[in-house]
Amino acid sequence: MVRVVELRKAAAIGTKCTVSGWVKSMRSQKTHAFLELNDGSSQSSLQVILSPLQSAQMLPSGTCVEVTGSVVKSKGGNQETEMSCDDIRVIGPCSDAAYPLQKKAHTLEFLREVPHLRSRSNTIGGMLRIRNAAMMGLHGFYQNEGFVLVSTPILTSSDCEGAGEAFEVSKSAEFFGGKTAFLTVSGQLQAEAFALSHSKVYTFGPTFRAENSQTSRHLAEFWMCEPEMCFVGLPELIENAEQAIKCAARRVFESCSEDVEFFEKRYGLQKVDLQAPWKRISYDDAIVALQKSGTSFEKEVKFGMDLGSEHEKWLAEVYADQQPIFLFGFPRELKPFYVKERDSFDLLVPKIGELIGGSVREERFDILRMELEARKMPLQHYGWYLDLRKYGSAPHGGYGIGFERLVRMVTGLENIRDAVPIPRVPNCLPM
Ligand code: 4AD
Ligand code: MG
Repeated sequence: MVRVVELRKAAAIGTKCTVSGWVKSMRSQKTHAFLELNDGSSQSSLQVILSPLQSAQMLPSGTCVEVTGSVVKSKGGNQETEMSCDDIRVIGPCSDAAYPLQKKAHTLEFLREVPHLRSRSNTIGGMLRIRNAAMMGLHGFYQNEGFVLVSTPILTSSDCEGAGEAFEVSKSAEFFGGKTAFLTVSGQLQAEAFALSHSKVYTFGPTFRAENSQTSRHLAEFWMCEPEMCFVGLPELIENAEQAIKCAARRVFESCSEDVEFFEKRYGLQKVDLQAPWKRISYDDAIVALQKSGTSFEKEVKFGMDLGSEHEKWLAEVYADQQPIFLFGFPRELKPFYVKERDSFDLLVPKIGELIGGSVREERFDILRMELEARKMPLQHYGWYLDLRKYGSAPHGGYGIGFERLVRMVTGLENIRDAVPIPRVPNCLPM
């Protein structure tokens, strides 16, 4: 199958071929007509030149066509090549004047109303290619580093984060002999089991949170990449996280340069610095810095408090000068039960906030058990997890990358709903 992206390159000049795709737009001039053909392989369309006979009938945007012709040097300045048409055949007509993606700029809000069609737009089309590159970039990084990919279950019996935000699965109690199943909020606890046999593993899959947040940072269904490794401490974990994100971003910037340029122009994407090391600051030092920040909130900042989005914003945008920053060493009370005292970290990114949360895990049986009890968590659900501390426990840790937030970072898109193929948010389940 010949793709538009190949035919747009100068090397294709002289090629005679057949290419299929969807009509982006068609405009007619005196002597011939121009048809913009896109097949999802590139941000820009292939310009097809139609003779008066071939363009007697205007093909509406959205029509699926097959074009046979020759690639020639373009006479216009906007592209290197165009296609002269020997034959054009309609594969799937798009006759309805109500087709939502007529040739004009659409708002992202409007596009969210047509999730089944919006991938044909420049923005969502480009986002999907970038998302693909970012995902492959992460897989490539962990594979290169010797991590084993394990697919942890979607149906789980325990709430990893202990935040009470798990979706309950109907019919599960009947099915599982009285035990209720929940959609996973994180694959971490299961990934820990595999780390304690394979030393370096990662899981990358959909996770679910029934938090009623109508924000530009939250989805009810989002993808998370969660590496888990043994025999490392916090500095190694943070370094690993930095290299993983830089590797994914580099892959996007290198392999999707046309899309990246589009996002720079249309959405003001600012590329993060992939050369210099990103700053690290301890929670204690961050509190002091925030208290001296000269901001309207500086007087409210106290030791022991959870940082709010305005604090994270200041740290990444002012303190770290518009670059990502690692914040580490949170008090235990601010983090889930499995986190080792003062051995946790978050990665904060300008305009996005928290992109990663991670920690060294408590590997001591007695302390972990006390922590579960202190938080009144149902011990019977965590027996298997405590076992991991009984049978050859090892120092280990990991982190979770919120994948759609990473997509926002490398596109400049403001709303997380536009960084996922089909968003799942409160009161909205269109397909
Ligand atoms: O900080 P969180 O809740 O950490 C965990 O789930 C750990 N178990 C991860 C681990 O250590 N393996 O979530 C991790 C990341 C956040 O930093 C954020 O980027 C993203 O997941 N995230 C969300 N993304 C979109 N919508 C939501 N509702 C999200 N909640 C968390
Ligand atoms: Mg977190």
